[in-house]
This record gives sequence, C-alpha cells and structure tokens, in this order.
Amino acid sequence: MARIAITGGTGFVGRRLAQRLRAGGHDVLVLGRAGSLETGFIDCEAVVHCAGINREIGTQTYQAVHVEYTREVVAAARRAGVTRIVMLSFLRARPGCGSSYHESKWAAEEIVRGSRLEWTVLKAGVIYGRGDHMLDHLSRAFHTLPLFGLVGFRSQPVRPVAVDDVAHVLAAAALGDPRLTTRTFAVLGPDQLLLADAVRQVADVAGRGPWFIRLPVAVHRLIATAAELVMTVPLISRAQVRILAEGIVEPLPAADGLPVDLLPATRFDEASIRAGLPPAGGFGRQDLRCCRVSG
Ligand SMILES: NC(=O)c1ccc[n+]([C@@H]2O[C@H](COP(=O)([O-])OP(=O)(O)OC[C@H]3O[C@@H](n4cnc5c(N)ncnc54)[C@H](OP(=O)(O)O)[C@@H]3O)[C@@H](O)[C@H]2O)c1
Repeated sequence: MARIAITGGTGFVGRRLAQRLRAGGHDVLVLGRAGSLETGFIDCEAVVHCAGINREIGTQTYQAVHVEYTREVVAAARRAGVTRIVMLSFLRARPGCGSSYHESKWAAEEIVRGSRLEWTVLKAGVIYGRGDHMLDHLSRAFHTLPLFGLVGFRSQPVRPVAVDDVAHVLAAAALGDPRLTTRTFAVLGPDQLLLADAVRQVADVAGRGPWFIRLPVAVHRLIATAAELVMTVPLISRAQVRILAEGIVEPLPAADGLPVDLLPATRFDEASIRAGLPPAGGFGRQDLRCCRVSG
C-alpha cells in the first residue's frame, strides 16, 4: 500500500481522489491551503498536485498559486524523497494566449515536467460531479434566476468528464502505472455536445425550465467581473468565461490519448447528471463575500 499526498486535497477533485485511494487501502495525506508542505510529503511515494484557483483575490494570484506554489511543491517533494508527481492541469493551458489562468497553468505544467521526478501531467476538460463548479452552479442559477444568459457560448463544444473517471486516472498515475510516466495526457469525457445542449440537459434533470437569452461574450465577462467581486465562489469567473468561450474538446498544445482501459467512459446522461446535482436550492446571502461567516 502506498502513501500519497494530495495538494488541493480539500477541493472537488482532490476529495474524490482521496476517497478512491483510501478505499483501495492507501494512506492519503490531504493538503488544503493550510497544510504544510515540509511535513506533508514525508514518506510519501507520490504527490498529486490538484491545488489551483480560477479567480484571483488579493495575494492569491495565478502567479502565486499556480506557478510559485508549484515550484514549492516540487522542491518539497524532492527534499522529502518523493518518487513521482502527478499534476491535474487544464486541457487548454498554454503559453502566450493572453489569459493568465491558461498561461500560469502551463507554467506549472512545465515546472512539473522539469522536476526530475517521475511525472505525469493530465490536461482535463470540464469536470463534473457532486460538489463541482458546473452542475452546482448551473442548478443553483436555475433556482435563482428566471433567465439564464448562456447563448454567447452557444456554438462551443464541450466533452464533460465525470470526476470519478478523472480520479481513476489520477490514482493510476499516482500508483506508478508505467504507461503514464513522463507523459502529458488529455482527459475528456466520451460525449461531445454543444455547451447550450449540456446546459439544457442539466436544466431538464434539475426539473427547471429557464429561458435562455442571447448575451455576447463581453457581457459574460462583465457578469464574471461582478460575480468575482461579490460572491465567495463566483457564479462564473473571468477565467471560466475564457474557458467556455473557446470550446473544451481539444487539448492545446496536442497531448497524448490515454490507454484504452483508462479512457473516461461515464456518459453525460440523466443518471450521471442527477448523481452530481446538489440539493435543490438557489444562491443566498451566504454566497456573498460581504456576508461570509469566518471559521
Ligand atoms: N473542476 C474542473 O472542471 C477542472 C478542470 C480542469 C482542470 N482543473 C484543475 O484541477 C485542479 C482542481 O480543481 P477543483 O475543481 O478540485 O478545484 P477546487 O474545488 O476549487 O479546489 C481547489 C483546491 O486548491 C486548494 N488551493 C487553493 N489555493 C491554494 C493555495 N494558495 N495553496 C494551496 N492550496 C490551494 C484549495 O484549498 P482550500 O480548500 O484550502 O481552499 C482546494 O483544495 C485545479 O488546479 C484546476 O485548475 C479543474
């Protein structure tokens, strides 16, 4: 049995990975932003690096969290004698594209690839499941807003991937599957559909019938700017607007395809959507930064 550390282990994907590894009898060290890298990696065989942000607040910038923290994670892993590092990145993280989110995730990938540890980089598209950002926010938006401004993204294709499938690949890499070592893979779900159709499917399963109104991407950016300012977890962030505006089906730069037995297979259908939906309810005061209760 292996001992594995997970940065971002308190987040949506990290939590699911921790459950899977523990169910397999492994010893898991979960690190949130409060966890110490110095002691966290001792006796660990692998580190799975899932920490990340999708909006900047104060000192929590993309440069600090994605780039500098990744450097610290790699350095601490090397000091602790960790054998391998697995990083969860974004499908289209790349340099020189004008988005700090994409560019900083790319810089983090490069740090991991240059770490001199055994490494795997997984570039995932939109990940869904209970506790995610997608189904959770869509469902709560449907319960809060009579109109849903989606149509600026209408033509963009997506391939949503189930969190359990992502956790499966992360676990295989963390446990040293030799087919995954020293390579960068795209991780996408089996179904390709237009974002608007995916959103309508979620609305149907949630039992809501929102109207859809046409909004250009620039208006989505304004909404995202406001949401980042006022919400603890924004309805949509500027990075997410950029992500959705360019479609999420092809890795950039090109990445390897996973071995067949590790390919995500969970269909984006009523059952998987229903399993990932939060309890019915809209956004409330607790979602506003000004009303946040600390502790
Ligand atoms: N969700 C997706 O659809 C998706 C798709 C592709 C790639 N990704 C990438 O996958 C990773 C995990 O995504 P997720 O959806 O699980 O994110 P999440 O739910 O927002 O969780 C983020 C995690 O990162 C930690 N973190 C944030 N800032 C940190 C800091 N300064 N130092 C250390 N840890 C910090 C958080 O810790 P606290 O709990 O302490 O805040 C949390 O554990 C991210 O890097 C994201 O970019 C996500």
